[in-house]
Amino acid sequence: MTDTLETKTMHEPLPGIVRKLWLGEATAYRDHLLRLDPDSRHRRFSGAVADEVIVKHAATAEDLGVVIHGFFVDGTLRGAAELRHIGDMFSRQAEAAFSIEKDWQSHGVGTALLERTLLSARNRGVKSLQLNCLADNRRMQQLAKKFQADLKFDFGSVVGELDAPRFTPLSVMREAFDDAHGVATAWLDAQAKLFKTA
Ligand SMILES: CC(C)(COP(=O)(O)OP(=O)(O)OC[C@H]1O[C@@H](n2cnc3c(N)ncnc32)[C@H](O)[C@@H]1OP(=O)(O)O)[C@@H](O)C(=O)NCCC(=O)NCCS
Repeated sequence: MTDTLETKTMHEPLPGIVRKLWLGEATAYRDHLLRLDPDSRHRRFSGAVADEVIVKHAATAEDLGVVIHGFFVDGTLRGAAELRHIGDMFSRQAEAAFSIEKDWQSHGVGTALLERTLLSARNRGVKSLQLNCLADNRRMQQLAKKFQADLKFDFGSVVGELDAPRFTPLSVMREAFDDAHGVATAWLDAQAKLFKTA
């Protein structure tokens, strides 16, 4: 059987690490969202939003039913993919939103984050995943298109819908492996930084 969640990019290795955000990292998420340049902020939130709205939004990062994958460079969060159940955490409907700081756009980070997000959505039984984005957001649409085996398209505000949910012991194991790998890599990263400063 073909694994439709395999990496679909020929990019160079990412210049940072991808892992889920841990408890206590809502402030890192807030700071990342506040650092977005005006255009990226506008695209991320589908319109103009004030700093206070972002601060409030980031404070919900640790709510039940929210899974955030982050892209870290030297310990700083530079990109994020937010998966959020619509309704309660057992709902089959969810939405996803992506934010990558300008200097790290077009390096394959969005691809890596969407791949992880799709895996997490499947493993949580999500049937309908909405990727809301502005109609002129070509890059996000191009990104979603790379996963057209997993997503159905309806261009406009909603980009994609996940096909029937299917999680298997293997897909659950794969997410667990990614999580363990994220912890190990973050630990090694911290050790390397300690060595550098020593
Ligand atoms: C949209 C966004 C998530 C895409 O992530 P990214 O890391 O820049 O995208 P990737 O490098 O993984 O590229 C994905 C695909 O987009 C297309 N793409 C990348 N850079 C592009 C560019 N400069 N112009 C046009 N298309 C581009 C390519 O098809 C690419 O796939 P490929 O490199 O395999 O051909 C990111 O740019 C971003 O956060 N933008 C600001 C906020 C936003 O728009 N959020 C989406 C709404 S929720």
